[in-house]
Amino acid sequence: MNFLPVTSESLEKAAKIINSGGLVAFPTETVYGLGADAYNPQAVAKIFEAKGRPKFDPLIVHIAAIKTLENVASLSLLNEETRKKLYLLAENLWPGPLSIILPKSEKIPGLVTAGLSTVAVRFPDHEAALRLISDSGTAIAAPSANPFGSLSPTRAEHVRDSLGHKVDLILDDGQTRIGLESTVLDITGGKIKILRPGGTPKEAIEKLAGKVQCFEPKANDAFTSPGQLKSHYAPRTQLFVLNREEIIRKTCDQSCAFMFFDGFTKDIWLAERGKAIHGREVLRVLSETGDTLEAAARLFETLHELDNLNISRIFAQLAPQQGLGEAINDRLLRGAAV
Ligand code: TXA
Ligand code: MG
Repeated sequence: MNFLPVTSESLEKAAKIINSGGLVAFPTETVYGLGADAYNPQAVAKIFEAKGRPKFDPLIVHIAAIKTLENVASLSLLNEETRKKLYLLAENLWPGPLSIILPKSEKIPGLVTAGLSTVAVRFPDHEAALRLISDSGTAIAAPSANPFGSLSPTRAEHVRDSLGHKVDLILDDGQTRIGLESTVLDITGGKIKILRPGGTPKEAIEKLAGKVQCFEPKANDAFTSPGQLKSHYAPRTQLFVLNREEIIRKTCDQSCAFMFFDGFTKDIWLAERGKAIHGREVLRVLSETGDTLEAAARLFETLHELDNLNISRIFAQLAPQQGLGEAINDRLLRGAAV
């Protein structure tokens, strides 16, 4: 495995690896991806093998220009109105943390889409990712670069420590900006539906395209978007998710971490404890001012850090259910599920 900072040389090397059917872990604005040539089924099979990911879980295909949409998706299968919505969303929100589900092109192997007739397409807002896609002259299939079910990587080191030996090259560009995955949006069914909340808030989509339905997991619905599987995005340490009132009252007599959404709640927690605090608690705040964007960027980062402290439990405070708060809460609840 090679671990290299993003430079023209390392990007060139990465493009060659993609073209010869290898795996490259690369930065995006959301999380690091584990990329392979989307048109090469043998290369794509390596992604599933490396991640230990079930083959019924479809991958996102990354492109570097709206005009290449036609290569990966069959846009002629969309009706006029849906096609208009697609371009409205694409032109306003791409490049950005939004994956759009579209009818798949015949050129995309079934393994990428897990046999579905649709494909998730994303145009990432990250220079190195875009250069890698353009330089390799293909589309890149990439899930988050973590073992299946565990925390997503927001740093190249996270990839190295978990999947390093299974990847040909890791491109390092420091911490990712958004810090959690893209929003997965299905526009194929008439109504627009969020299958996975993520880096593009529902409000931004609704402003352009009107009312959006949110995915509500039902027992048999899990595979509509398998990122919706329960117990996903999980740290190794036991995670408990609490609302504001609950975390303020929560005490712990073992070694515990408290991950507050905002600084105000942490201050109240401290004031409630007075001198009773025994100093074994680890306290973290996702955003002092309660900004959901900042909190989202620190979520996986903080969970990775706490996971390495060998503590017995993590208590995490839910975010307000607005802006990126929806995606934060989704990841917390899935991380806490067993
Ligand atoms: O931000 C991101 O989206 C990152 C970076 C690397 O781009 N990628 C990522 O990929 O999060 P992954 O594989 O971890 O999550 C992809 C999600 C899964 O929930 C999957 O079920 C859903 O997208 N998905 C992919 N194709 C789909 C399809 N055709 N229909 C429904 N859901 C799909
Ligand atoms: Mg993932």
